[in-house]
Amino acid sequence: MLSKTLPKHIAIIMDGNGRWAKSRGLPRLEGHRRGVEVAEEMITAVHNRRIPYLTLYAFSDENWNRPKEEVDTLMVLLELFLKSKQQKMIDKGIRFQTIGAISKLPENVQQTIAETKEMTAKGNQMTLILALSYGARNEIMNAITRLVRETPSLLEPVLSEVEGGEGWGEGTLNQFLDTKNYPDPDLLIRTSGEYRLSNFLLWQLAYTELYFTKTMWPDFSESDLQKALEEYAKRERRFGKISEQL
Ligand code: IPE
Ligand code: IPE
Ligand code: MG
Repeated sequence: MLSKTLPKHIAIIMDGNGRWAKSRGLPRLEGHRRGVEVAEEMITAVHNRRIPYLTLYAFSDENWNRPKEEVDTLMVLLELFLKSKQQKMIDKGIRFQTIGAISKLPENVQQTIAETKEMTAKGNQMTLILALSYGARNEIMNAITRLVRETPSLLEPVLSEVEGGEGWGEGTLNQFLDTKNYPDPDLLIRTSGEYRLSNFLLWQLAYTELYFTKTMWPDFSESDLQKALEEYAKRERRFGKISEQL
């Protein structure tokens, strides 16, 4: 596949762990356990394709409303995943990052996250971004609050950047989002047959190609990823223009 038709940034809503387990008569935990393995396989597959950014939606702001037992299990799995993959990330040149309200996570998980970020900071082959305790509306509200607080002088002339003004523009808000250092996703994949965004990257997905599959996340494989990439390669991204202009 031509590299120009490969996305630079893939975002994935890894959904369906619970239903996968239920359909096998297993506890939800088993779905999450298998889900973590699949996440690792996909990180490797994306890395092998030299795609520089991968964002995985691992835990939403709304997921705090699940039964405490399940939330606790997810936190344990997250901690175990990070601890056991730190060395592999360093070896592969993977830089680990997060978006979301990390301060809401248990202390030990926060510490492991900070440690993993530091250990992998020099990674220059791929950036792996985990969305944890993430909600897009919350992210946007925080960005606006900080924007107003930190740049009050810009409030007066609300001229947009595109008009050549000094005021706020889209780029200004971008600078206050958790994703400020990453390009917008080119391709979004959601598994499990749900056709919604569930409060994920609402601002950043404005022009992203969307790909939905009925496959449950624990069954998602490299060939499913390949299918999504082939579909992506066929899409014509016009960004408002007409074909002839591209
Ligand atoms: C996705 O699978 C994992 C998380 C949200 C943490 P689910 O746990 O949402 O599985 P379903 O959607 O109930 O099947
Ligand atoms: C979205 O999945 C969040 C993650 C995959 C982490 P959910 O299963 O929480 O989404 P809804 O509740 O079905 O929209
Ligand atoms: Mg779900």
